[in-house]
Amino acid sequence: MELNQKRLSGQTALVTGASSGIGKACAIALGMDGANVIVNYAGNSAGADEAVANIHALGGRAMAFKADVSKQEQVKAMFQSAVEAFGTVDILVNNAGLQKDAPFMEMSLADWQFVLDVNLTGQFLCSQEAVREFHRRGMRTEVSKALGKIICMSSVHELIPWAGHVNYAASKGGVMLMMKSLAQELGPMKIRVNSIAPGAIKTPINRMAWETPEAEQRLLRLIPYKRVGLTEDIGNVCCWLASDESDYIHGTTIFVDGGMTLYPGFEDNG
Ligand code: BGC
Repeated sequence: MELNQKRLSGQTALVTGASSGIGKACAIALGMDGANVIVNYAGNSAGADEAVANIHALGGRAMAFKADVSKQEQVKAMFQSAVEAFGTVDILVNNAGLQKDAPFMEMSLADWQFVLDVNLTGQFLCSQEAVREFHRRGMRTEVSKALGKIICMSSVHELIPWAGHVNYAASKGGVMLMMKSLAQELGPMKIRVNSIAPGAIKTPINRMAWETPEAEQRLLRLIPYKRVGLTEDIGNVCCWLASDESDYIHGTTIFVDGGMTLYPGFEDNG
């Protein structure tokens, strides 16, 4: 990777769940685009250190911070450390998320709650701290037209129902209306809020869906563009959404899914 145009110089981005997969790619991409980056992780410190080292190697500034996004005290401590280290936070990428799949009849309350806590409540808690920090810091027109930017990592499953994953789909459906309600409420304060809805991206969360050629073929039936997504596909959109190039994009979900939401079952049917 080499340095590209630096659209985010002088800004600081906090990326949750950035020790692997989409979050890690977003953290590195934001660093490449000139932002200082807080690489949040919950357990995988090696992955977080790798993302930080990657950004340092590109000449950027980054630090790892361990926090469970579903715990308010830990989220507050993380934002405090971010402000101490870099002065403020300009961009929040609400990425931390997980799956605990089970057929509905077998899904435990604990697994329902765990997924909702991390995927939805985590985004609520981080957004609230981010907005508080945006207001404390105030406008800096020299780095951005917005007071702050929030990017929520949603999923095609904010739209596509998903049998066997009712907790996950419910959490992403919740993210959709949380994001839109926040956008409506925070827009007048010049805080820009949007979501990215990835389709099938090659990461550890869905390894079983792409790791054998047979599985990949099955998955490709759901993707009109006929390739499984890469984390860089999301990193690119994340940087653009964080930058002033997308200053008039507000309250929208950008689907980055190779067409997974186009009802591909209708290609030769119906
Ligand atoms: C899920 C993946 C899945 C993809 C497409 C994502 O939100 O986390 O496991 O492959 O949606 O179904």
